Amino acid sequence: MIADVVVGLQYGDEGKGKVTHHLCKTGGYTHVLRFNGGCNAGHTIFHEGKKFVTHHIPAGVFFGIKSIIGNGCVLDPVQFFRELDELESGGINTKGLIYIAKNCHVITDQHKEEDGKDTAIGTTKRGNGPAYRDKYSRDGYLAQDIPSLKPYLIDLHDEFWNHGETKILCEGAQGFGLDIDWGDYPFVTSSHCTSAGALLNGIPPQSIRRIYGVAKAYDTYVGSKRFHGHENIFNDIQGIGKEFGATTGRRRQCNWLDIKNLQRAVDINGVTDLIINKVDILREVDVWGIRRDTATLKFDTEQRWKSYIENNFDIENMNLIFSESPERI
Ligand code: IMP
Ligand code: MG
Repeated sequence: MIADVVVGLQYGDEGKGKVTHHLCKTGGYTHVLRFNGGCNAGHTIFHEGKKFVTHHIPAGVFFGIKSIIGNGCVLDPVQFFRELDELESGGINTKGLIYIAKNCHVITDQHKEEDGKDTAIGTTKRGNGPAYRDKYSRDGYLAQDIPSLKPYLIDLHDEFWNHGETKILCEGAQGFGLDIDWGDYPFVTSSHCTSAGALLNGIPPQSIRRIYGVAKAYDTYVGSKRFHGHENIFNDIQGIGKEFGATTGRRRQCNWLDIKNLQRAVDINGVTDLIINKVDILREVDVWGIRRDTATLKFDTEQRWKSYIENNFDIENMNLIFSESPERI
């Protein structure tokens, strides 16, 4: 068994969908596995000129690869069936490709109602937190308890071990800054967003090959804490970068890339390939900033900004790729 992992290194919305989509196209995977989160996630994917936003269903479905919602996720059956319909009506075949781990927990209407009242954290109100709380208090529902989900259920052990050679792409949701353990608690989500989270879905550690860490040229965050930088330039970045939540449409707060947080995320995830997306947005505003602790560093040119980032990482042993907005490549 071989497994590669895609993780977010900031607060979600780094462009993981784009990286996953590319890897699905080129990587020869037998399975794509979503390993954390629920329909709080919104992956924006440009496929053959069409825009799709998926919440639950992994990107493998666009390429006829078996796509699994793992036991590290929480699943809203209503949203799941809605998404299946949307994909089918967008011309994507889902038949025989979509699977749900039978031990995945379920988001109920009550969970959504409760989460809908949140103001403290600024959640996506999709029922995530209450569903994970009930999982850990041993009071939840499993996918295998829900009759309508029966046709999609699998046992991850049997799927991974009884079907010959498997090559699995593990697709993470959210990011390091939202991780339940490593994020800025309590302004976090309720799941494990790091590469370690993938292992909780039946992936043995020694099968891990590459870990693709995805970041953006600047930081964005959606939620209740104050995050937006004070300079006016962040309103330009927000507008030009079209920084609106894929799930809730909320404005994403923007700030310069926090290099120390990025370093922590790279270290703890064990990133082998670091992708920094949306460099074209900074090029358009032509201001090149980076945060280090409480200081803001400014660079005259794109090249100096890139060199500063390169010098922070051990690029002898890690691939570093600067990339552009998804719709522009
Ligand atoms: P929850 O995951 O809905 O409980 O929300 C907790 C925090 O994570 C809030 O600040 C959300 O805005 C944020 N969040 C959850 N999912 C995503 C995502 O996919 N992208 C960006 N932020 C997210
Ligand atoms: Mg997103």
